Amino acid sequence: MTVVTLHGAHALCSTASPAGGDAGPGQLPKAGPVCGLSCFCSEPMNDLTPLVQDAHADFAQAATPAELENAKARYLGKAGRITEHLKALGALAPDEKKARGALINAAKQQVEAALNARRDAMAQAELQAQLKGQSLDVSLPGRQRGMGSLHPTSRARERIETIFASMGFEVADGPEIETDWYSFTALNNPENHPARSMQDTFYVDVKDANGAWLNLRPHTSPMQIRYAQAHAKKYAGQASMPDIRVIAPGRTYRVDSDATHTPMFHQVEGLWVGENVSFKDLKFMYLDFIQAFFETKDVKLRFRPSYFPFTEPSAEIDIRFETGPLQGRWLEVSGSGQVHPQVIRNMGLDPERHIGFAFGSGIDRLAMLRYGMNDLRPLFEGDLRLLNQFI
Ligand code: PHE
Repeated sequence: MTVVTLHGAHALCSTASPAGGDAGPGQLPKAGPVCGLSCFCSEPMNDLTPLVQDAHADFAQAATPAELENAKARYLGKAGRITEHLKALGALAPDEKKARGALINAAKQQVEAALNARRDAMAQAELQAQLKGQSLDVSLPGRQRGMGSLHPTSRARERIETIFASMGFEVADGPEIETDWYSFTALNNPENHPARSMQDTFYVDVKDANGAWLNLRPHTSPMQIRYAQAHAKKYAGQASMPDIRVIAPGRTYRVDSDATHTPMFHQVEGLWVGENVSFKDLKFMYLDFIQAFFETKDVKLRFRPSYFPFTEPSAEIDIRFETGPLQGRWLEVSGSGQVHPQVIRNMGLDPERHIGFAFGSGIDRLAMLRYGMNDLRPLFEGDLRLLNQFI
């Protein structure tokens, strides 16, 4: 009898076998094709071939690892078919035992190989299913990060700062919650001035050292006083003092809300004080600024008489474009004036010696004009459709 050796292709073969029991010991192997399975094996058939075929079929049919273990027990378990054949060896004569033993062993190895192949196939299938479940679709569009950009007001503010810095102005920053003195009194606002009323100014439920309610600054003008005071203090006792040239951009608040007013808005305060500063300087400087800001020489300036308690004389500054979509209309962009002597005094300076001008312009207003908007409110509504246009 031929000793069957383990054959890789055979072990992987999972074709169902024809039904049939084992041939009894001592039966001659059937002639013909090697094992009756569709794979190509070179194993000659013997009485254990049907057993091996059945094992193949059983293992192939097992759908789960547990079923496979049960099928395994039917062949290799204590009362399994291979085990039964091994038990029967004891009844054989010693010379028969050797050959028969080798044959059973070969069959056992084939069954074990089939079992292992099926186990591997199952594990492989499970792995594939798992991978499929976790699969990453690299063709899916990713989550967009979104590109950040500067808000139009911030852009306008940065432009303003750059332009004034190039003209020798410093850029100062100050508190948005102010005292009554800085917002009003120091700026020469009489006690009963309407700007002080609750209808115009937001008050904070906290009092300052003088017992006056704090306010959300209704303009950036308190920065005139703060900056000039610090400057005057710095040069106190010296023979001369360099000119004060500063801008103070920032947030301001008023009880106001319509297409051209929002409760929070932005202003830039400007102050130039020295011993020989005049309205003429304001006019030239402001024209330079406007031309630089809008990048055009085709713009005119007009000073329209006005009133502010902290300047005398006072003027509104209007601009008019000679070309472009805003052509021909006078547009108000700023309040201005020569700093009132009382305000100069409140700054800690001598009005007999120091003179100058101040202006307060709306940054959002300038941004609207530069970017062609006719409503102020969208600037503060956080709508990305507006903001994305500035990327
Ligand atoms: N503070 C004034 C306002 O808010 C503007 C202004 C500033 C006017 C400086 C004159 C001088 O309307």
